[in-house]
Amino acid sequence: MTVLITGATGFIGRHLCAHLTRHHQPVLALMRQPAKLSELRQQVSTLGGQGELVDAIAGDLDAPGLGLTSALPNDITAVVHLGARFAWAMDPAVARKTNVEGSLAATELAHKLGVRMVFISGFMLENRVHLERLGIKLANLSDTDWEQVYQQAGSYEASKLEGALKSREYAVARDMDWVEVQPATLTGSTATGELDTAQPLFQMIDNLNHGRMALIPGSPEHWLPLVSVDTLVSIIAAAISAPTPPERILALDPATPNLKGLLALMAAPLGVKPPAYHIPSKLLAWLLKIPGLATKLNTAPESLHFIQPTRFDTTSSCAFMEGQGITLPPIHQVVQSNARWYREKVLT
Ligand SMILES: NC(=O)c1ccc[n+]([C@@H]2O[C@H](COP(=O)([O-])OP(=O)(O)OC[C@H]3O[C@@H](n4cnc5c(N)ncnc54)[C@H](OP(=O)(O)O)[C@@H]3O)[C@@H](O)[C@H]2O)c1
Repeated sequence: MTVLITGATGFIGRHLCAHLTRHHQPVLALMRQPAKLSELRQQVSTLGGQGELVDAIAGDLDAPGLGLTSALPNDITAVVHLGARFAWAMDPAVARKTNVEGSLAATELAHKLGVRMVFISGFMLENRVHLERLGIKLANLSDTDWEQVYQQAGSYEASKLEGALKSREYAVARDMDWVEVQPATLTGSTATGELDTAQPLFQMIDNLNHGRMALIPGSPEHWLPLVSVDTLVSIIAAAISAPTPPERILALDPATPNLKGLLALMAAPLGVKPPAYHIPSKLLAWLLKIPGLATKLNTAPESLHFIQPTRFDTTSSCAFMEGQGITLPPIHQVVQSNARWYREKVLT
């Protein structure tokens, strides 16, 4: 029994492969560059998994039919869709190709194989006020003016929302076995503190360390919901194997402090002074349009959307986690270990 994973080479994907193979679950990674399989196997083993249980098949979310040219093995039990193009200020057409068309193609593949689809979206899918503000018509998706959504939210977030909602719609129409895991922003490893340099939390720690965060975006109610990568991969693994998981699982630690508290937690191990005063998000977003400022502060205006005041109902997700024996590690300890890892491994 094999699990097919898109995005296996990414930050979450590597940790997921390690978790699954540690539990003797073979994995087939859909890779744009299958020649990099030995590198992936090594990373998986370093993370405590069994690299030899990972195999690769050539494929590309941007290509018709996922670019699959060789036959898939007939023992696939689930498709996990993690693959996505993540960058700020992306061309909408480029983002759409991977994150919308690619997501739909991965969902179609799970349907064709008749297996469970574990689709990784994001926590903003549960922020109804935000979706309404963007003009997304949940009751009738085809009424949504997506061009306007892309303009307001930026291509990354808009394409993730469009990809998830359209794939969900496709799955519901076909009565598919569908589980959507909705992660908050990722922290690094609980055990080692390691955090991929491309991750948004890494960029925040780096900005804090270099004095590029003199003010706190938003108000005291604003927070950046977090989940540790270890918790997330345990949730995805449970979503693959549980007989009747919920259709949507919000992977978010409700104990994440507000942004001011989070910055103070990370500043301590870095030995820097955390910012004390707030700046309204709208004003900051406006200021970031001044040519050169977003680059200088290493802050994209669209990244500010994820720092928001909405609180989320995690009751059903927490009940699922409890039933699966998944416990949340103390989030303050995790972020401090990420900041310590940054100080020890990146700064030295
Ligand atoms: N990180 C977070 O804080 C966070 C929070 C919420 C949701 N998510 C979602 O979780 C998923 C994984 O995130 P991540 O942080 O692990 O991302 P990541 O490190 O950027 O990895 C992205 C993965 O997608 C693959 N990919 C990109 N374009 C592809 C294409 N055209 N065809 C095939 N594969 C392609 C990459 O493969 P290559 O090696 O070939 O580049 C890589 O394996 C994404 O859907 C992301 O939106 C992440």
